[in-house]
Amino acid sequence: MKIIKNGILITPEGEKRADLAIKDSIIAEIGDISPADGDEVYDAGGCYVYPGFIDGHTHLDLEVAGTVTADDFESGTRAAAAGGTTCVVDFATQYKGDTILNALETWKKKAEGKSHCNVAFHMAVCDWNEKTKADLPALREAGVTSFKVYMAYDTALTDNEILEVLEALRPFGGILGCHCENGALVTELQKAQLAEGHTEPRWHPLSRPAEVEAEAVNRFCYLGALAGMPVNIVHLSTKLGLEEIRAARKRGQTVYVESCPQYMLLDDSNYSRPGFEGAKYVCSPPLRSKEDIRALKEAVLAGEIDTIATDHCSFSYAGQKIAGKDDFTKIPNGAPGIEHRPAVMMKIFGDSLKPADYCRLMSENPARIFGMYPKKGALLTGSDADITVWDPADVWTVRAAEMQQNVDYTPFEGMEMPGRAKYVFVNGILAAECGRPTGATAGRYVCR
Ligand code: URP
Ligand code: ZN
Ligand code: ZN
Repeated sequence: MKIIKNGILITPEGEKRADLAIKDSIIAEIGDISPADGDEVYDAGGCYVYPGFIDGHTHLDLEVAGTVTADDFESGTRAAAAGGTTCVVDFATQYKGDTILNALETWKKKAEGKSHCNVAFHMAVCDWNEKTKADLPALREAGVTSFKVYMAYDTALTDNEILEVLEALRPFGGILGCHCENGALVTELQKAQLAEGHTEPRWHPLSRPAEVEAEAVNRFCYLGALAGMPVNIVHLSTKLGLEEIRAARKRGQTVYVESCPQYMLLDDSNYSRPGFEGAKYVCSPPLRSKEDIRALKEAVLAGEIDTIATDHCSFSYAGQKIAGKDDFTKIPNGAPGIEHRPAVMMKIFGDSLKPADYCRLMSENPARIFGMYPKKGALLTGSDADITVWDPADVWTVRAAEMQQNVDYTPFEGMEMPGRAKYVFVNGILAAECGRPTGATAGRYVCR
């Protein structure tokens, strides 16, 4: 057995000073455990022991805009594990003309045999038709309980199609997330900027103002109300959008909300960095104002945000972002973060959030909402041995040159982080130690 000794466990009943034993891939015991001969002992003195962190929003090995994300499942999950994440929920993406069942098989193959942490898939439904609808029961059988639709990009569905997806999911109790931006408005605003000769990265946020997000959040909430279904708002970035969510909740709707660390730490002044540097921050929705940051942080503290994910979608600055050198609309959208989310969250919130809050936002709630609880998201006897031992005394500085993410920059470059994952177990196997992967590829497909 593997015994984690002397740590403070973050359990569903609260903080517990106890030891934890792992047998094979399962948590075998929690309590005062005396190691027997042959047991491996891991000292967690001074550390918090969390159920492994779950990143509920990543894009690995995804083709977009004629290129493919810099991180595939090997480097992406290696980086995730190094940073304390034991499970990612990536987006299997149905391209136009493809079936959702084939899309799932394609993404499972991309991840197979090379994943350092566990991998589950949401299905991004991008071609809604009779066949897609008919395939939903089989997709559910194959372990997919969560879905995403886009209101922007060439992957967007119409409002009517989104309503039909919501209605089709009702018998399965599946949950639908939505990329809430009004795509038609974005296209017009981009055209208007380019017509004025505005080609640099700093025009990106001005083509996607807060209203574009808030209007889409409002519309998605009402579509959920029409269908009588809960909804999941992904990567919320604005105060205006948050106000729409509050209004929907006030009307009695169940609205789950995800936000990401970049929207609570980095503001839109980054787009005005010299030269083309602003391209590093081109993601959608874009970084926002200091007032938006304040509102999102207050919402986290007030318990209004359910999950914190990364929307990790990495493109190298030198080789990929550069495609938009003369036209900001051609910069591949997305930013890296899969390796740094737990540390960045603790940097942003420090002691104003308790370990139980970090657990809720980054492990328990994603596990509950995406159908993995209590196998994941809880330190309980019988749960999967996905465990993150977090050392708050290990202060370190983020450097792209030293990270695992396969990309040539990080938006968190040079920032000091207040703690780091000392041991990361994936299915009971040590996947990373003090930020360094062990090389073990113990990740499995999580059939939900
Ligand atoms: O810019 C981003 N976030 N790209 C990833 C795709 C998405 O919208 O989630
Ligand atoms: Zn999105
Ligand atoms: Zn995304």
